[in-house]
Amino acid sequence: MRLSDHDKALLAGDQGRAAQLAMEALVQLGEAYDAPDMVDIGYAHVHAGMALYKGDVELIEATAEQGARMVVPVSTNIANADMGDWHSTGAPDSLGQLQKRAEAAHRAMGSATSFTCTPYWAGHWPTWNMHIASIESGVTVFANSVLGARANRDGFFAVYAGMTGRYPRFGLHLNANRQATHRVRVTAPPRGTADFTALGYAIGTAVRNGVPLITGLPFRPGLDDLDALGVGMATSGGVAMFILPGVTPPYDSDADAAGLPEVAIAEADLQQVFDGFCTGDETGFDLVHLGCPHASFEEMKHYAALFAGRRIAEGVEVWVTTNRVVRQMARDAGLLAPLLAAGAKVVSDTCPISCHFARTCSPDASLGVTPPKIRTILVDSAKQAHYVRDMIQCPTLFTSSERAVESAISGRFVPRARQND
Ligand code: F3S
Repeated sequence: MRLSDHDKALLAGDQGRAAQLAMEALVQLGEAYDAPDMVDIGYAHVHAGMALYKGDVELIEATAEQGARMVVPVSTNIANADMGDWHSTGAPDSLGQLQKRAEAAHRAMGSATSFTCTPYWAGHWPTWNMHIASIESGVTVFANSVLGARANRDGFFAVYAGMTGRYPRFGLHLNANRQATHRVRVTAPPRGTADFTALGYAIGTAVRNGVPLITGLPFRPGLDDLDALGVGMATSGGVAMFILPGVTPPYDSDADAAGLPEVAIAEADLQQVFDGFCTGDETGFDLVHLGCPHASFEEMKHYAALFAGRRIAEGVEVWVTTNRVVRQMARDAGLLAPLLAAGAKVVSDTCPISCHFARTCSPDASLGVTPPKIRTILVDSAKQAHYVRDMIQCPTLFTSSERAVESAISGRFVPRARQND
């Protein structure tokens, strides 16, 4: 791999031991993928340091103590507890306090401690052709497909990219890989973000880690729709980029899709995704979760309007998850009041599958974390449903946002309306 003088200086330790180790890791990554050289990155969305894995927080702390400093704008991904009020979700003090240690370490390194899967709603908005690094698959697919930035699905390497401002040129950083592999014809117009997550989920199941070029949508999706579409396909498949002509820079037609394998997605395919995640007790759900990915300000407006003047049924808990910045904006705009008055909790920094509910990790015994017994979780996102099934290992119910709220109010599941209902 060709290295610039700056890369070589970092490797030689001119910028300190932490940057040297980061560069060594990035060179190894680049060599593994036959990268010809490195690119400058303009932004990184990095691993939070998950308190459920104590060593993970200690790694972030050790990185900061070594003198690591971020040299590009950096945001932090979802964490294991709401650091402003972990009691609201039943997390033990030990977990919340450990998570705050990761927050302090990130601050020492100069990161914006957003702790969210939607840093774009908190102002991190990379632009066309900007190379970035991202640990969150939803951020990767949104950046590539909506903003025209360039990102792979990274792991801890995003931290190293933030520390050095460099990243090996491979994968979706190369034009050759930013080409459609499948044409997807959609014949069922999605209605609302839950439908868009289901559409994305159906597409990801079909194309796996391909780059689908999507046609047939009868309207231009809004930002929340595009966000939902991307996370759906990044969940069921390994999709890191989709092409929606007229939306995805620089594509403005489907000309490139000629001769590609075709996939058709109809109403029955969408309904199949919903039905597949309706495995729970329709009158015995304990938790309704809204806001996956973390809600935008517009989605907070929508949820607030749906709950205004109403009261959540006895025995049902409702979480609306969003990021810290949006929560503050929603508070300032008076949007939290109707949610709280209805009995909902507005949670930041985490979500059900990212908090201590997860049964697929083995927290350090000193943390005293015991996942609660949950009968069924009702959701309005295919991504949340997928991971509740796999990580919390409890049954789910999946419906539209509007009907999820109706369910929370009545205590009885209201399924998604089919297209012809
Ligand atoms: Fe975010 Fe949790 Fe959904 S991390 S994308 S709210 S599963």
